[in-house]
Amino acid sequence: MLSRPSQDVNELVVALEARRPLVASHCRRVSAYGVQLAAHYGLPDATIETIRVGGLLHDIGKAMVPSQILLKPGRLTEGQWRALQAHPEHGFDMVEPLGFDSDVLDIILYHHERADRSGYPDGLDGDSIPWAVRIVSVMDAFDALTSPRTYRQALSIDAARTLLARESADRYCPWVVSGLLSIPKPLLEAVAAGGAEQFRSDARPSEAVLRTATTPWIAAHFEKPGPQSAW
Ligand SMILES: [Fe+2]
Repeated sequence: MLSRPSQDVNELVVALEARRPLVASHCRRVSAYGVQLAAHYGLPDATIETIRVGGLLHDIGKAMVPSQILLKPGRLTEGQWRALQAHPEHGFDMVEPLGFDSDVLDIILYHHERADRSGYPDGLDGDSIPWAVRIVSVMDAFDALTSPRTYRQALSIDAARTLLARESADRYCPWVVSGLLSIPKPLLEAVAAGGAEQFRSDARPSEAVLRTATTPWIAAHFEKPGPQSAW
């Protein structure tokens, strides 16, 4: 069970939205896709909640990655790639002091780990990647493929599912990918069309969050909003 009120989750997502709106909408869709899959498999309510919250926060560390790196259409330099790959650890450092359940922190820290050990930050092997993380990782990849990028158009739901099924044997959990393949397409279309959970646009951080010394990012953002970024 989460030891922090859900209000904190909403505040974090609202703060992310103000700074990196496209990352925030990606997080909402990943969360909603993950909940669909977990419900499809009949997973326990606590696991569904872990996936919902972990999906919402999985990329929050991208707030610390410069926009020019997130938006760069061409190939990243080695230094830029390292900066991008630091976002799971940035996210963990931002959220861990708030007291979230370790299962949620695992999603933030390990969602770029891959079954063939090609992932980061730790190069975990497939068996070491927690189940909730595997679900968010597949849905993260699915949403990335079905969203437009500066360097390519969005793939259709069918094309993205086919691509992931081809890659599932070595990089992604086959059980999760087969679940994605069996979710009715209208449900995925509803999420893609904005059927994800909505958040209050006027939400402000609570005193409890602002008092947390280890969340200067939230306090600084709400006191001195930085330049808006598309991503
Ligand atoms: Fe990520």
